[in-house]
Amino acid sequence: MARKISFLSYKGGVGKTCLAVNLSVCLAQEGKRVLLVDLDTQSNASIWLLRLKRWNRLNEAGHGALYSIFSPGAATLPDCVIRDVVEDSEGAKLVPGLDLVPTCFNLVDLESDFEDGNPASRPYMIFREQLRELERNYDYIVFDCPPDTLKAAQCGIFSCDEIYVPANADTLSLIAFTLLGEKIQKLRWASNAYRTNGSNGAGGPGEIRGVIFNSVDNEADVEVAEMRVRVRLNQFRSYGQASSQARIFKTRIPRTSMVERAVSVGLPVPLLSVNGDEAGDVRLNYRDLARELMKGEPAVAAEELHENVAGF
Ligand SMILES: Nc1ncnc2c1ncn2[C@@H]1O[C@H](COP(=O)(O)OP(=O)(O)O)[C@@H](O)[C@H]1O
Ligand SMILES: [Mg+2]
Repeated sequence: MARKISFLSYKGGVGKTCLAVNLSVCLAQEGKRVLLVDLDTQSNASIWLLRLKRWNRLNEAGHGALYSIFSPGAATLPDCVIRDVVEDSEGAKLVPGLDLVPTCFNLVDLESDFEDGNPASRPYMIFREQLRELERNYDYIVFDCPPDTLKAAQCGIFSCDEIYVPANADTLSLIAFTLLGEKIQKLRWASNAYRTNGSNGAGGPGEIRGVIFNSVDNEADVEVAEMRVRVRLNQFRSYGQASSQARIFKTRIPRTSMVERAVSVGLPVPLLSVNGDEAGDVRLNYRDLARELMKGEPAVAAEELHENVAGF
């Protein structure tokens, strides 16, 4: 069965899309079958991987992208999958094994289309049901979420098992992390209540399994930020707001112009070559992060976590 993973934070610009896209590519390069699902109306992951010309066709047609699955009869989730999505200008497949469910701007209508009333007709129920057909085809299904927990994001939150939270070395990331832990807990209680009431067979949201530091450019700043996140994560673990396995990843992604360059040329970072003027090779950081994710082992032992909290 596929490991189902959401990249989620209440903070925008923190690196959800960059992590989802580049880690998905690395996982495919490690021989895994990967499906990336773009759940953000901004469509950044879709535009990045399809490049503007292909994505524009989709956006103008208005069907074949994620929103189509919520109009009965228009398309199902398997219809929307673009196989081996990354191509060069001649159409040669550059990342075999990486598929995409793309999104275009019409996804914004999802937030107003559905009433909040009946849990059984919620968009995430429709999404989850259709995702079942795809699960056996993949090792990883990765959800790139918007910076909220509204209806589109809930498709990922309620379909995944594992939630990873990207963070920058700043206070806003810590605040966003705190709010997210509380919200996921509320969603869990609410979905437990539906099940107790017998309204539907919905499972709960995924668990917070880890924090990934992204766009790091100062060791001292990130050490302090990491200590604060570790304290919060430990609280979450003791209140059941995060998995007992939750960890801070050892691998951090440095801030580098290579990431900006990748976006502007429409190629994922692992497919770029390094320019002479660029310090370091961020491709290796993404590869190490993918391998750490594949291991699925806690990077910080529980005892170490308690000691750090006690000494903070
Ligand atoms: N490691 C990095 N180094 C430099 N810039 C980065 C890095 N990661 C992300 N960015 C830049 O930060 C911006 C926001 O990243 P993005 O992944 O789109 O965030 P989110 O999806 O959380 O809104 C983008 O312009 C992206 O190019
Ligand atoms: Mg994004």
